[in-house]
Amino acid sequence: MEQLPICPESPWLAPLAGWSDLPFRVLCRELGAAVCCTEMVSAKGLVYGGRNTEDLLATTPASGERLEDDSFVTDHPLVVQIFGAEAEFMEQAVHILRHRGFAWFDVNMGCSVPKVTKTGAGAAMLRDVPNALRVAEAVIRAAGPGCIGFKLRLGWDASHEVYRELARELASMGAGWVTLHPRHAVQGFAGVPRFEAIGELASELSVPVIASGDLFTAADGVRVLRETGCASVMYARGALKNPAIFTRHRELLRGEGCAEPIFEPAYGSEPVSAQDACDILDAMPVNPAELGGVIRRHAQLARRWSPHLALLKMRTFVPRYVKSMDGARALRQEIVKCSDWEALNVILEKYFGTELETEE
Ligand SMILES: Cc1cc2nc3c(=O)[nH]c(=O)nc-3n(C[C@H](O)[C@H](O)[C@H](O)COP(=O)(O)O)c2cc1C
Repeated sequence: MEQLPICPESPWLAPLAGWSDLPFRVLCRELGAAVCCTEMVSAKGLVYGGRNTEDLLATTPASGERLEDDSFVTDHPLVVQIFGAEAEFMEQAVHILRHRGFAWFDVNMGCSVPKVTKTGAGAAMLRDVPNALRVAEAVIRAAGPGCIGFKLRLGWDASHEVYRELARELASMGAGWVTLHPRHAVQGFAGVPRFEAIGELASELSVPVIASGDLFTAADGVRVLRETGCASVMYARGALKNPAIFTRHRELLRGEGCAEPIFEPAYGSEPVSAQDACDILDAMPVNPAELGGVIRRHAQLARRWSPHLALLKMRTFVPRYVKSMDGARALRQEIVKCSDWEALNVILEKYFGTELETEE
């Protein structure tokens, strides 16, 4: 059985609902992501065969695929993230996924969005540890030991921290890895992630620990690896801002310095709001020449796998990529209005001097 790479040199792309679709995952892999996670998939949706679920599971054959431009791409290794609070559905979902050829899975125990938590899933699992363990037992039985990870927060709130006992139990039951976003569910994305908690888990768990949370640049990721001893890191909003974060990560670990800022000092000792953190992320500099190439490739990949939605997708991704560029406001206004590839081409040419390859 192939092992998933869970080591410092192998950064992961985090599950990102609404964003980590097939074209974006392949883009991130080409830029150095070692493992990618799907967007979260509802266990019930899988069992009842929802159409949206099918889109979320789009992938390449494990052996890869040759594209029209002769590049060879793969979406392997892929971790399918599932969510749900009922052990029976979760177990059945893993069986269905295995039957369809997926090999690695992750259980969402960290999403704090009310739509998910009100069903008892996501971070709400941390409020009912006995049920979380019932779910874990069922999905590990279905996936096989070592093939499924669990993505946790510290607990629901500061007076109910459960990550340590829960992670220990999960490891002893056969979890393959544990990812920790060291905030409480009620914090959402506000406040400062408690990276010491990742260090504690990494030193006491028998399975690899992956860090998530405010890793906005590769320098942030590498710092957390060094300071906590965690096995690997997951990039989320940092990858949405700049998918080349994975390239930078690998360069930094090879000792090829890059003068990227570290996010952490910007915090000082003051708690920050989620909006402040987003503003800091948005303001981080990007290299326009590199970004032009990234956008061009993203558009090619999006057109390959979601021809009908590709333009719309580029209209949502590009404004995120360009926020810190000179003239970003005008660029964003032009992008959201463009209604065909020709118009997008003109904009890219104007701002990046780069053209899309057009398919007639
Ligand atoms: C737009 C968005 C969508 C997300 N979707 C998921 C998801 O589907 N499953 C999940 O476990 N976490 C999800 N997360 C949480 C991220 O995977 C990650 O743990 C979190 O953003 C912290 O990392 P960051 O601060 O580096 O962004 C999402 C976060 C964002 C911003």
